[in-house]
Amino acid sequence: MKNLDINYIQKNLKTREFGRKLFYFEQLDSTSSHLAELSKGSVGQGTVVIAEQQTAGRGRQGNSWHSPPGQGLYFSLLLRPGLPSVKLSGLTLALGCSAAEAVEKITQNPVTVKWPNDLYCNSRKVGGMLTEMQSHGGLIDNAVIGIGLNVNNELIPQELCDTASSLRLETGKATSRENLLVGLLSGLEDDYRLFREQGFKSFAGRLTARFFLQGKRASVQDGLGIQMRGVVSGFDSDGCLLLTDQQGRIVKCCSGTVTEMER
Ligand code: BTN
Repeated sequence: MKNLDINYIQKNLKTREFGRKLFYFEQLDSTSSHLAELSKGSVGQGTVVIAEQQTAGRGRQGNSWHSPPGQGLYFSLLLRPGLPSVKLSGLTLALGCSAAEAVEKITQNPVTVKWPNDLYCNSRKVGGMLTEMQSHGGLIDNAVIGIGLNVNNELIPQELCDTASSLRLETGKATSRENLLVGLLSGLEDDYRLFREQGFKSFAGRLTARFFLQGKRASVQDGLGIQMRGVVSGFDSDGCLLLTDQQGRIVKCCSGTVTEMER
């Protein structure tokens, strides 16, 4: 197994900020935990922490993120928005859309976004994002965007293989992790700028075209354990999921996990 070629990444990265400062580790507990620590100091926006392997990779809602060495991409990116949280609603979904487009461009294989920001290939999860924000005096001053992608994994652990996969298994080809990282950072930089200038609205059309489960019956378990059911009808301007229930009412879900329901 070959380690990431950091020189190649630095040579090919054409971004202004994202990834210009890059901390590389063979092993970390979690790139997001490490970057959150670094963010207490003076590191700037665009700083990236990347690891070949994570021993305690974290996913959304307390899940862990399986991070075997040399096969996937596990990295975290620091944003310093300096904006009230209301101005950042929809950011997670917008960046999920950006990441899906970047992965699709490199792999030449369709990638969809499962709300709020899981990446799917042929109806299987190949990647996920974890956004963790910290505020101070009413402004979000740090957002750590953690991205995990199963890239060249040939084996998926038994307990995950019903729903998860890798780009390698879904496309039948190996993908350069270096090119993926370069493509992701460059797309995310452009799209974060667009989000700051125009908000979530500029992503709505792009996202609709790749919104996994659109028109499907689904249930959402929100952060408080409340379950909502309906047909996925899209998302609103804050990036919340919209379901149409059996009575035809629109139900809005702003946090949680969405699961397709058996017919
Ligand atoms: C999810 O789908 O639940 C989100 C997974 C996010 C995993 C990434 S891997 C890099 C970064 N470091 C972490 O500990 N988690 C994120």
